[in-house]
Amino acid sequence: MSTVGTARPHESAHLHVAGAAPYIDDIAEVAGTLHAALGLSPIAHGRLLALDLDRVRAMPGVVAVLSAADIPGTNDCGPIVHDDPILAQDTVTWRGQPMFAVIARSRGEARRAAALAVQVATIEPLPAVLDPLEAHALQQYVVPPMHLVRGDAKAAIASAPHQLDGRFSLGGQEQFYLEGQIAYAIPQENDGLLVHSSTQHPTEMQHVVAHALGLSAHQVQVQCRRMGGGFGGKESQSAVFAAVAAIAAHRLQCPVKLRPDRDDDFLITGRRHGFEFRYRIGHDDLGRILGADVEMVSNAGASADLSAPVMTRALCHFDNTYWLPNVDLRGYCARTNTQSNTAFRGFGGPQGALAVEMVLDSVARRLGLDPLEVRRANFYGTTEHNVTPYGQTVEDNIIAPLVTELADTAHYRQRRAEIASFNATSPVLKRGLALTPVKFGISFNVAHFNQAGALVHVYTDGSVLVNHGGTEMGQGLNTKVAQVVAHELGIPFERVRVSATDTHKVANTSATAASTGTDLNGKAAQDAARQIVFRLAQHIAARWLVPVGAVQFADGRVTAGAHAMAFDDLVAQAYAARVQLWSDGFYATPGLHWDREKLQGKPFYYFAYGAALSEVVVDTLTGEWRLLRADALHDVGASLNPAVDIGQIEGAFVQGMGWLTTEELRWQPMDGSRNAGLLLTHAPSTYKIPTANDVPVTPGAFNVRLYDHRNPADSIHRSKAVGEPPLLLPFSVFLAIRDAVSAVGEHQIDPPLRAPATSEAILDALDAIGAVQAVQAAQAG
Ligand code: MTE
Ligand code: MOS
Repeated sequence: MSTVGTARPHESAHLHVAGAAPYIDDIAEVAGTLHAALGLSPIAHGRLLALDLDRVRAMPGVVAVLSAADIPGTNDCGPIVHDDPILAQDTVTWRGQPMFAVIARSRGEARRAAALAVQVATIEPLPAVLDPLEAHALQQYVVPPMHLVRGDAKAAIASAPHQLDGRFSLGGQEQFYLEGQIAYAIPQENDGLLVHSSTQHPTEMQHVVAHALGLSAHQVQVQCRRMGGGFGGKESQSAVFAAVAAIAAHRLQCPVKLRPDRDDDFLITGRRHGFEFRYRIGHDDLGRILGADVEMVSNAGASADLSAPVMTRALCHFDNTYWLPNVDLRGYCARTNTQSNTAFRGFGGPQGALAVEMVLDSVARRLGLDPLEVRRANFYGTTEHNVTPYGQTVEDNIIAPLVTELADTAHYRQRRAEIASFNATSPVLKRGLALTPVKFGISFNVAHFNQAGALVHVYTDGSVLVNHGGTEMGQGLNTKVAQVVAHELGIPFERVRVSATDTHKVANTSATAASTGTDLNGKAAQDAARQIVFRLAQHIAARWLVPVGAVQFADGRVTAGAHAMAFDDLVAQAYAARVQLWSDGFYATPGLHWDREKLQGKPFYYFAYGAALSEVVVDTLTGEWRLLRADALHDVGASLNPAVDIGQIEGAFVQGMGWLTTEELRWQPMDGSRNAGLLLTHAPSTYKIPTANDVPVTPGAFNVRLYDHRNPADSIHRSKAVGEPPLLLPFSVFLAIRDAVSAVGEHQIDPPLRAPATSEAILDALDAIGAVQAVQAAQAG
């Protein structure tokens, strides 16, 4: 019996489906709990001259109203650059920025009072910039521009047989975690605070709260049992909520809960960065890229937040699976008067990689070649042409065999031909097909974040409690860590329980992000468990007179040759003999180094690979489309839990498909209207995420398979991280739509399709093709 590698349900699945898995809002409220709401800036940019808070204080049920002046310590929740006030001070920089906090007896009363923000704030408007390209023209950035260079791109492009120029506009994406942002702060004795925070980064919340209150870290305890999704949106941006609840609780010495509603969550917090690309490419007759000169402008929003590391990842994923001998990649994080954008599954990687996929798609169309052949011609080699632009050697390149396996099993060539004949006789409905590969680097590109700790307790009855520095957001981290511990101790999975993440248990944790949760915390928990196993083995080896190495732990039993006893009995015996039955564990990923200025080094421990083939049908009269079939083959190394991994891949596929097709963010332009600068799409009524109905309905039409391949790097049980990489698989959906649209022009004209490919975007692209055809017809006539 090995718990590692088995497909078992998520440790909380039975609780999730029964509504019995408590989230923060389900925690029984302490008597006297007050509720907070935030008063939001009604304009996008301006000087905050005055706040008439007495009017707010006079509202029913209001206990206190706090503004920046009431923050005793540092008024900042910026994770890297300290440019992010918790409550606005002197200026407001986006429409929706929190200016003050109302604390009231009920949530409804707090929200009604906070809604007075529009009337009580005196703000002198300043010019607001919503568009990242406009900010770029003004050289308005949140961090200095970044530059990743190899070789001489300009010369390589100039001397290449073909040149290609283009632009591509890619929208942002709301995390849309089902459980919204929330924090619940409860004062503790002697100036301490307990903060329940729905966060991917309890330690960062501890720091922000301590700094805001002028407390030491040991006075602030941050706890998170689980999130109802984070997707990057609770890596840094849970901080404003944790801080406000904590500041209010500390000041009033009452428990305070802050749970914004969905609309406010949209207006306050940022999301995936939209990107604008401009590129000039030189390529040969086979479509091989000889030089790439690319400008990437991200919409950073009003502050730096995580925009710099997001841009770094975008630059480091432009290569995707391709050898690019000469590149000149420039990244600009444009400061705009919109919500400050942040982490979202893939962390800039999807944006960077989609750009090169768009380029190759266009190159293939111009050359009249099959796009899969053009991609293959550009793949990294295994012994040469295998160094990334940032200087890391791609040591484990499996993309070519993986893509071949997918293309063969999903009948790429045959379906290409079938689609061509379908399109030849179908004037309105057009089908499209695309196969896109993925390579995704695993590790934080700040080396020191790649560390983790864990605590394993074995109780005298043989049951086990694990605590580690990672957070559970539905991804199954606790399940995998429990499997690892059960495996080391040789006991059934059910004997291991994982408890809430808590800064009082494991200190100085990194965010659960960059897909590293299991890699880091799994190894740390394994280290802790191994120390306990060693002590138990030492104890029993001395009694049995066998070598320590001969003692085996499996199936709930401990054996050595003819000797055997139950694990639980050994534990009881060892306790009586005063053997330490609990241990800490630690892990630091080896071999990483990174030069932040030059963007060179070895930022990743290894790469995860994958590929997907998608087929769509587009109605060229309405712009509507459907995904007919999708096949994904994805590399998770030796899977720790195939059920959880396949769930992650399916979820990431659908989430990435939503980003690229239906999820559209719109801000009202600065047109002098009442809504100027407002994010108009701030609720599910106007912001369309995918549902189960968007998955192909025919049985067998949505296939996710794991690629059989152990991780050559010494990762936990040779598995690979799975959280983010599969978000790139649905590039195939977007490019299949582009393929279908281009069928209208017999694949002669490159459709200027923007992302998301909403029905409007599809119709615009069809119109553009029609316009080109009209010009060509006029010229021919
Ligand atoms: N899966 C679920 N169900 N919910 C989530 O919030 N977040 C994703 C991914 N999968 C997420 C998820 C993101 S952004 C990351 S970085 C990883 O999970 C984090 O967890 P891991 O490192 O344990 O994979
Ligand atoms: Mo994930 S975007 O790294 O939280």
